[in-house]
Amino acid sequence: MNSTDTAKTPKGLFIRTYGCQMNVYDSERMRDVLRPLGYAPVDGPEHADLVVVNTCHIREKATEKVYSELGQLKKLKEASGGRMTIAVAGCVAQAEGEELIRRQPAVDLVLGPQAYHKLPEMIARASRAVGDRLETEFDTLEKFDALPKARNADGPAAFLSVQEGCDKFCTFCVVPYTRGAELSRSVDDITVEARSLAAQGVREISLLGQNVNAFHGAAPAIEGGPDWTLGQLCRHIAKIGGIDRIRYTTSHPRDMDDDLIAAHGDTPAMMPFLHLPVQSGSDRILKAMNRGHTAGEFHEIVAKVRDARPGIALASDFIVGFPGETDLDFEATMELVRRTGFAIAYSFKYSQRPGTPAAEMFGQVPEDVKDARLQALQALLRDQQTAFNADQIGQTLDILVTGKGRMAGQVHGRSPYMQAVHFDGPPDLIGQIASVRIIGSSLNSLTGEFITAREAAA
Ligand code: 5AD
Ligand code: SF4
Repeated sequence: MNSTDTAKTPKGLFIRTYGCQMNVYDSERMRDVLRPLGYAPVDGPEHADLVVVNTCHIREKATEKVYSELGQLKKLKEASGGRMTIAVAGCVAQAEGEELIRRQPAVDLVLGPQAYHKLPEMIARASRAVGDRLETEFDTLEKFDALPKARNADGPAAFLSVQEGCDKFCTFCVVPYTRGAELSRSVDDITVEARSLAAQGVREISLLGQNVNAFHGAAPAIEGGPDWTLGQLCRHIAKIGGIDRIRYTTSHPRDMDDDLIAAHGDTPAMMPFLHLPVQSGSDRILKAMNRGHTAGEFHEIVAKVRDARPGIALASDFIVGFPGETDLDFEATMELVRRTGFAIAYSFKYSQRPGTPAAEMFGQVPEDVKDARLQALQALLRDQQTAFNADQIGQTLDILVTGKGRMAGQVHGRSPYMQAVHFDGPPDLIGQIASVRIIGSSLNSLTGEFITAREAAA
C-alpha cells in the first residue's frame, strides 16, 4: 500500500458491469484510477459513496436494463440523503449522452469509454456542482496514455486491453459508433502492464480488443521498425517470466492472418481456444451484414487454424433473424455449425439498433420467427457443447486454479479450452496450474481429480 492509499478516509465504491470483457477490464481500470482518491470497493450499492454503472449498448435489452437499474439507484441515493454519486459509464453513456441525465436526473456523471481517466476530475467537479457532467469525447490515445501503467491484479487470470474501437461497420453493430475508430496501444505500454501483472502472480493474460486481431501497435522502442501484429505480440508476451497462458478476444475472420494462425502452433503459451464470431452461415446475409467474407472463407480459416493447432476449441457468435433472413439462410447457419463443431457459442436474436444501417433495412424478421430460430440454433449448440465437454472425460488437463469452490475443500479453475473445472484440493493451489484428471462433465463445467501442481515458470 502506498501513502496515497492511506491518506484519505476510505469511500465506498461499487461498480456494476454489463456487457463484454472490455467492460470488465475498464471497470478494473476505473478502480485503479479511483484508488488513490481513497475509494475502496464495497460489496453492494447500498454501502457506496460512488456507484458506477458500466453499460453495454449492443442489444436493446441491455440498454433497458440500465434505465431500470438507475431507477433503483435513485431510491438508494434518496435514502442516503443525496450523498451517493451516480456515474454512468460505457457504451450507453456514449450513445445516450445528455439524454441519460434528462431521463434519470439522479445521474450525476456520464462518461464514455474513452473518458475513464477523467473520472477523478469529474467527481471533483460534481462535488463542487460546477462544470460539465458529461465526457463523451473520443480520445482513445489520451485514455491509454493517462491510465496508470501498473495494475492491481485480481487473481491469476487477467485481462489486458491492447486495442479499442472498430472500423469494420458491420451493419447491425453499434460498436464503431460507441467505441470509435480502431486504435492499438504501443507494445511498450502493453509490456509494462503485462510485466506488472506477472509480478503480482498473474499466469494467464487475455489480450482484449473489440477487433483484437486487427492489432497493429507501435513496435518496442528498442526495435523501432514497423507496427507489430497480434501474432508478434503474443509471442513477445509469452516470453515474460511467469506468463504461462495467453488468450485473445474478440477476433474477426477477416484479420485471421497466417502469422497469427502459425503462432497458435509454435507458441505453447497460446491456449488452444479461439473465439471467432461468424454471425451467419449464409453468404447473402454475411454480405448484408458487411462482414467481408463468405461461409466458405470461414471454413478455410478454421481448417488452417486446426491444421496449425490440432484439437483447438472453437467458439463463435451468431445472430438469428437479421433483416431479410429466410428459412434457407437460417439453414445455412445451422449447416455451418454442424460442419464446424463449436466448443461454446453465443447466439442472439437480431436487435434493431437506432443509427445502424440494418435498422433501416427491409424484411425485418417477426419476433416469433426469431424465437423459433434461436431455440433451434441453441439446441444444436448446446448439444455440441455437451459433447465437447464429455470428450474431456479421461483426459488429464492443466487447470489454472482461480478460486475456492462452493463446497468446502473444493477449488475451481479453467481448462486450456476455457471450461470451468471443479475438483477437491487445498486453497493454496489458487494461482497455480494443476494437473487434473477429468472424471465428469455437464453442459457448463467439468469435474476432476487433482493429480499434481506445476510450479510457476521462471
Ligand atoms: N443484435 C443482436 N446481436 C448483436 N451483436 C452485436 N450487435 C447485435 C445486434 N444489433 C452480437 C454479435 C456480436 C456480439 C458481441 O453481439 O454476435 O459478435
Ligand atoms: Fe461490431 Fe462488426 Fe466491429 Fe465486431 S467487427 S465490433 S460486430 S462492427
